[in-house]
Amino acid sequence: MSKTATIELDGKKYDFPVVVGTENEVAIEIKSLRGDTGGLITLDPGYKNTGSCKSAITFLNGEEGILRYRGYSIEELAEKASFLEVAYLLIFGELPTQDQLDKLYKDIKKESHVDEEMKKILDGFPKSAHPMGVLSSLTSALIAFNPSAVNVDSDEEMYNAIIKLLAKFPVLVAWTLRKKNGQPLDYGDSSLGYVDNILKMMFKKPHENYEVDPVVSSALNKLLILHADHEQNCSTSTVRIVGSSHAGLFASISAGISALWGPLHGGANQAVIEMLEGIKQDGGDTKKYMGKAKDKEDPFRLMGFGHRVYKNFDPRAKIIKKSADDVLNQLGVEDPVLDIAKGLEKEALEDSYFVDRKLYPNVDFYSGIIYRALGIPTEMFTVMFALGRLPGWIAQWREMRLEKEPIGRPRQVYTGENLRDFKDISKR
Ligand code: CMC
Repeated sequence: MSKTATIELDGKKYDFPVVVGTENEVAIEIKSLRGDTGGLITLDPGYKNTGSCKSAITFLNGEEGILRYRGYSIEELAEKASFLEVAYLLIFGELPTQDQLDKLYKDIKKESHVDEEMKKILDGFPKSAHPMGVLSSLTSALIAFNPSAVNVDSDEEMYNAIIKLLAKFPVLVAWTLRKKNGQPLDYGDSSLGYVDNILKMMFKKPHENYEVDPVVSSALNKLLILHADHEQNCSTSTVRIVGSSHAGLFASISAGISALWGPLHGGANQAVIEMLEGIKQDGGDTKKYMGKAKDKEDPFRLMGFGHRVYKNFDPRAKIIKKSADDVLNQLGVEDPVLDIAKGLEKEALEDSYFVDRKLYPNVDFYSGIIYRALGIPTEMFTVMFALGRLPGWIAQWREMRLEKEPIGRPRQVYTGENLRDFKDISKR
């Protein structure tokens, strides 16, 4: 028999169905709460206890440190898959056959040009503009050059919109970097694989050949996979809620990029390196910064630590930490901030402030050190996160539209003034 949960208010009882997911996650479904009770709502700032949707894409268990895309463990995918395979898996639900993967990439290559007029838009930005703002604007601008509204009931139209985005987004990422570096805009080389081509588009100098370094390519492939989805985080929820108004795919993704930018979310990867650099320049005294992080009067937080959902460890951080060691060794890079990062981690894991609050390194703690070793400038780190997260955003947007979810529109508890009379300006 299905379970129910009962709310009692003012002597009256109201029953609500209990929903159980495939991993036995339990939720009280309160869809009928307002109607049944004559106006009662729930209040949950930051949605710490609120499920906004049912989703079959990503499973995350924060207590046990589990992350799976469509049932496959993140550890196995990071080790064995290509980023494009993972993108297909997230978006379409299954790992692709070789033929399906070949077709996907063939279709992407056909769409991988960006209208030349877009270059004029990019030109309008100063070189100093933050790449996340530029990327969000360019993604939004793509709409003007690909104006057809997507009929989400047409598999073909949905597929074509997704292909366009998977094809053009890496070009925008590369152009954003090239603009910053004062280099001519380029389209890369479609004889290369998806990730290798991204590297070439980003780093090829006009007067030199560019040979993809397999160590760099494999590290980037892994990082992109680890960032590819993370269920209903801030930017993904943004993508879903913007899309729920039936705004198009590109507009929804552009909004997601803005949400990702913040230092409490994807922007943390830039903030971590800046913090580590700051500690290094200040003499490398990690204890001083541990003290600042614990001081409630001090706004300083240990960036790259803590997570809304992971209260044990972030499985992505484990993989990235090992990868940081490997990549730096293989590339022969010595980065003193890696030692500072390891020192901070060790101290935090032994400190009751962090232990009691279950604060562990998250995905962003070590990723910047790898990006830096790959030659990616600090301000581009969050852009790289966005590049990785793109398939997840697309998958979540597609799921939301196919499930015909209603427009996202939370309620509030009003705490402002009651009705009062207008005062003429002379009497205020
Ligand atoms: N440094 C010091 N104290 C912290 C930190 C930190 N990084 N994170 C949380 N706390 C403390 C916080 O002050 C609070 O203490 P108290 O209970 O005494 O008031 C307690 O831990 C709970 O923190 P919270 O802010 O209520 O937790 P949250 O779930 O709302 O926030 C978080 C999660 C990730 C925003 C937060 O841990 C944080 O700001 N971390 C640093 C930024 C960061 O690394 N963000 C990347 C997250 S992972 C990638 C992604 O999402 O994109």
